[in-house]
Amino acid sequence: MIRKRTQVGIVGAGPAGLVLSHLLHLAGIESVILEARSRSEVESTLRAGVLEQGTVDLLTRCGVGERLQREGFVHHGIELRFGGQPHRIALSDLTGGRAITVYPQHEVIKDLVRARVDSGGTLVFEARDVSIHDYGSTRPRIRYVCANGDQELRCDFIAGCDGFHGGCRASVPARARTEYARHYPFGWFGILVRAAPYAAELIYAHHDRGFSLVSTRSPEVQRLYFQCAPNDDTAHWPDDRIWRELQARLQTTDDWRLERGDIFQKGIIAMRSFVVEPMQYGRLFLAGDAAHIVPPTGAKGLNLAVADVYILANALAEFYASGRKEGLERYSAAALERVWRAEHFSWWMTSMLHRFEDDPFQHRLQLAQLNYVTSSRAAATALAENYVGLPLTDGMSSAGQSALAPEALTTLAHLAVSARM
Ligand code: APR
Ligand code: PHB
Repeated sequence: MIRKRTQVGIVGAGPAGLVLSHLLHLAGIESVILEARSRSEVESTLRAGVLEQGTVDLLTRCGVGERLQREGFVHHGIELRFGGQPHRIALSDLTGGRAITVYPQHEVIKDLVRARVDSGGTLVFEARDVSIHDYGSTRPRIRYVCANGDQELRCDFIAGCDGFHGGCRASVPARARTEYARHYPFGWFGILVRAAPYAAELIYAHHDRGFSLVSTRSPEVQRLYFQCAPNDDTAHWPDDRIWRELQARLQTTDDWRLERGDIFQKGIIAMRSFVVEPMQYGRLFLAGDAAHIVPPTGAKGLNLAVADVYILANALAEFYASGRKEGLERYSAAALERVWRAEHFSWWMTSMLHRFEDDPFQHRLQLAQLNYVTSSRAAATALAENYVGLPLTDGMSSAGQSALAPEALTTLAHLAVSARM
């Protein structure tokens, strides 16, 4: 058994683990990332691609935003389509100029991996049998197997950033955690298409046949989704059927047409909401999908992961700088405040836009809500401010006063930027 030591042992090289490791590095704190998959798999997994303003600002301030600034698409609005009519939600006008950036998650991952490798960070890909131990004590350990054989990593803290199916959350005894979950009676059928962009802004469409979404990946590749049965099978959907279904759901009274393109990927995504409380167990801190899942309708998954680790990195920086544990003790409550806001928003968007079988009452409520959101500035503002994302909080301010202005992105980001200059 080979023994090594670091300050923070991080399980998982998704957005949560990578951003955490990067922020810690900028604050002078050592970490090691243990990832089950290979680097090429991690860098090629396709996921959503909507970055909130706060996520973009943080990545930029921390020196990993250069490519996303250059290649990402800034969107100042979204379209809600229903009753055959388009309705624009002017995100930026309603939020004092904030916007979203469409930049694929795997590109964010590539930028983060490169930044860690360039600064000499330790990332262990293809780590097998990762197990966490003694996180109830001050000397946690992580065991794993890699090409060099059995390893033990001793650390001060463990960050469980290993996604929904990872082992960190499951290692906590069931009696110590409370889990909240909701399953939805549908899934999303997603396709990637070689085509020019279909629209300047994302289109969220409500239709009697079910929800659909028009998104983009690049000037050449587009991402489209439509609501399907949860147990549906891509084999049931030849290309022609997909195009007819999308055209029917996206139809407008002035005859909006969806150009067909070459579909080169099809997949079905399950829809669920999930939260575990608390997000801390002794010296184990859960972050990102390991602690919570949102349905993709609000595009919050990656952003929530970043928001968690921003709080955690600040708390760890405070601990290593001064020995103070208050930030670490507040981590779970501070992170969960934002998590539950995003859970509500994602559930609300999902409930407003999807077709629920045989529920005409819900259908009338949905239309009432869509009409309200697209005609009342106050209602549209509520959607817009959640969609572009509430300001990131560092979790350091006292309860009830949590949301810092983006200009006040504190310690880490400032430290980070000045450290690089
Ligand atoms: N050992 C090591 N690594 C593991 C293990 C394990 N036992 N189990 C899972 N992992 C790795 C996965 O291979 C993955 O790379 O942990 C990483 C978790 O990454 P994500 O699932 O991307 O989770 P997170 O970093 O929290 O990011 C959340 O990413 O999953 C999307 O849509 C989600 O946008 C959201 C965001
Ligand atoms: C995506 O582009 O994959 C995407 C966009 C918006 C969402 C979800 C997914 O709400």
